[in-house]
Amino acid sequence: MKVIKFLFITDLDNTLVGNRQATDALLHKLLLIREQIYVIYATGRSIHSASDLKTDQGLLEPDYWVTGVGSEIYHRGQQDQTWAARLSIDWNRAAIADLLRAYDELLPQPAAEQNPWKISYFLKPTADPTILTRIENQLADFGAKLIFSSGQDVDILPRSGDKGLAITYLREHLAMPPEKTVVCGDSGNDISLFQQGTLGIIVGNARAELLDWYSRYGTPQQYVANAPYAWGILEGLQHFGFL
Ligand code: GLC
Ligand code: MG
Repeated sequence: MKVIKFLFITDLDNTLVGNRQATDALLHKLLLIREQIYVIYATGRSIHSASDLKTDQGLLEPDYWVTGVGSEIYHRGQQDQTWAARLSIDWNRAAIADLLRAYDELLPQPAAEQNPWKISYFLKPTADPTILTRIENQLADFGAKLIFSSGQDVDILPRSGDKGLAITYLREHLAMPPEKTVVCGDSGNDISLFQQGTLGIIVGNARAELLDWYSRYGTPQQYVANAPYAWGILEGLQHFGFL
């Protein structure tokens, strides 16, 4: 039987990817222990866009993909249908899209970034961000949640979906304990990753929305790295004694 040392979960953009040398240095270390770890990529990108990024950057093949901010899960090219069914409960995509059409402040993202369990917009630069609280309150009645990232990305997902809930589902499936699980991220859509009772690494280049969350709710289980991008992941994995 394969003995797994830890479950490694990372965001892609501006966390694993963003500094070429750092990505390579981390991948080199991970490749040496690839048989002893599980790897999950948890990204806001669609599976197509994330796979292209993996090819472009020469990333290692993960065991699972959590894509579209946790709206979809893929394993060996197959979409997880149990997850899809779970997210479909009480989720009325068309009704929400109708409701949000009234907001001039929201600009729909390209079709490739939309999926049956994710409606994505850009908040217009001129818009007042407090509008998001109003939208969030309205969405609660629709079994939906709003996730704001990087000062511009607005994702609407079913209540039962986000990166954090998706990785807990997979962690339980893999029977990995939280203390042998580490999540890494840099922005707002990663906050849910840090709310799952696992270890966490916030990279040195993290965005204000994640650092604000950490200043309010952070615990010693989360490590804020000094170094940016994958250098920060390396620093954190060393801090937790995984490397
Ligand atoms: C990625 C996705 C986009 C999403 C953003 C933040 O950029 O492509 O749809 O809004 O992540 O989650
Ligand atoms: Mg990111």
